Amino acid sequence: MSASPLVIALTKGRILEETLPLFEQAGIVPAEDIKTSRKLLFDTSLTDVKLMVIRGSDVPTYVEFGSADMGVSGKDLILEYGSEGFYEPLDLKIAACRLMTAQPVNTSLPSGRLRVATKFTNIAKRYFAEQGQQIELIKLNGALELAPSMGLADVIVDIVDTGKTLKANGLEAKETIAEISSRIIVNKASMKIKHGIISDILSKLRQAVSQG
Ligand code: PRP
Repeated sequence: MSASPLVIALTKGRILEETLPLFEQAGIVPAEDIKTSRKLLFDTSLTDVKLMVIRGSDVPTYVEFGSADMGVSGKDLILEYGSEGFYEPLDLKIAACRLMTAQPVNTSLPSGRLRVATKFTNIAKRYFAEQGQQIELIKLNGALELAPSMGLADVIVDIVDTGKTLKANGLEAKETIAEISSRIIVNKASMKIKHGIISDILSKLRQAVSQG
């Protein structure tokens, strides 16, 4: 039995829809409807497990600092945040997509420094440095697909799922930077202190994923 409840931080939005059935299969069911409630912290069917529902970009922070023991985070946000502060023991294989570069259809890129618009600035910096390509980074928080046609950027780095958003905005995907899916991350101290319950949940989730 753990000394304090185990707190799991879930990513709200599309990832949550795919997370809840896996958690249910693992025996963790929120005590009320998590999708319609305005609450952010939920009791569950397990008395010593609570669920938080927050923005994906905040999940790594909560888990690194131990305010949440575990979290569900997109690999894109883990790559952007850096993964030194926690363990990443399980790929839930949900919310699969790609992190890609994209540019206007049938155009060639300028030869010098590229203007790159993205919210994934750390990933973009690393990727283009590895390519030996000089860039000017333009940080945006959304609607990246507008940046090239509005003359703000030559290239964007963004999530591509169906590719419909790119197409609707006259862009085409070019290079894949990373294959993305949602992962379980675990606070390093919690993994020791609450090892029993965490390894139990991990093995149930692993089984749920494999039954997929
Ligand atoms: C993501 C991404 C693209 C879109 C890609 O945005 O930023 O805009 O999905 O999907 P598609 O390839 O199926 O068209 P999301 O809706 O997750 O919202 P965001 O702008 O908050 O990232």
